[in-house]
Amino acid sequence: MFFQLVYCSKANQHFTSADLLALLEQSKDYNASKNITGLLLYKDKSFIQLLEGDKKEILDLYREIEKDTRHRQVTRLIEKETDERHFPQWSMGFQHLDEDSDKVQGYSSFMKDTTLLTPERAGEVSELLDFFKLNS
Ligand SMILES: Cc1cc2nc3c(=O)[nH]c(=O)nc-3n(C[C@H](O)[C@H](O)[C@H](O)COP(=O)(O)O)c2cc1C
Repeated sequence: MFFQLVYCSKANQHFTSADLLALLEQSKDYNASKNITGLLLYKDKSFIQLLEGDKKEILDLYREIEKDTRHRQVTRLIEKETDERHFPQWSMGFQHLDEDSDKVQGYSSFMKDTTLLTPERAGEVSELLDFFKLNS
């Protein structure tokens, strides 16, 4: 079994593609060493990240991420055990969403304002992540 955790947060500064790449470079080795995979979405100073792997490793990493001063309002949306990984190929895939992402169903109510995201809307978050899985 794998443990899957999805959270959202607000960036404390604008992240350029270069900033995101640097963050992912920093994350990739750690995640690979802990057998953690996932996806990071960024748009308009909002993040959604899916992390999957061993439960203890995911919770340890999440505690570190929560403390990171580059973002705030880190809010858990989904926590569940799964049989298979959603993004087995990515130690941390990422999408820096541009305006085209308006095509993504449900986008406008989501990442423009992550304060709208609550655990009750986990189903919609799953759909958004599925979209990226199908289009990756
Ligand atoms: C939105 C966001 C997502 C992050 N995702 C990861 C990640 O998947 N893996 C990782 O090792 N660090 C990630 N980090 C970085 C961690 O918060 C932290 O900087 C990292 O664990 C290194 O900590 P250290 O500098 O104290 O060693 C992320 C940070 C942010 C702001």
